[in-house]
Amino acid sequence: MPTSEDELYQEHILEHYEDPYHRGRVAHATHTHEDDNPLCGDVVRIDLKVDPQGKISEVYFDGDGCCISQAAASMLVEHFDQKNLSEVKDFTAEDMLRLFGAKLTPNRQKCCLLSWRVLQAAIYSPVGDAAAPGTTSPPQPSDKEAR
Ligand code: FES
Repeated sequence: MPTSEDELYQEHILEHYEDPYHRGRVAHATHTHEDDNPLCGDVVRIDLKVDPQGKISEVYFDGDGCCISQAAASMLVEHFDQKNLSEVKDFTAEDMLRLFGAKLTPNRQKCCLLSWRVLQAAIYSPVGDAAAPGTTSPPQPSDKEAR
């Protein structure tokens, strides 16, 4: 029988899935990245507009996938709207699982971490000449990923 905490998490996940935060595209994105979960093919893309000070002034996601992957993307985008790139860099896979809240099996953790991987790669993926300060190193998201 579900505890009330489980029910709260379920409700929070469904809210994000049914009424996502910033699903769509950023008109003049400075950074963008898309990736899939190789286990199922579900996709998340994240667009960012980063100002010259490194602040994320706009962030939107889009994608196609399970409730967990899409709700997690919505939570992540909401969390980092108006934040700094440096905060994204410090945000570990464990932080992502904590933000999501609900306890997940290892396969479901991969659903949850899809948007986290995409965001970590997006900050190193400038569109055209829009390289932002401190975003020239290649991404190393797998180093931080929870196993
Ligand atoms: Fe594909 Fe969840 S089942 S990301």
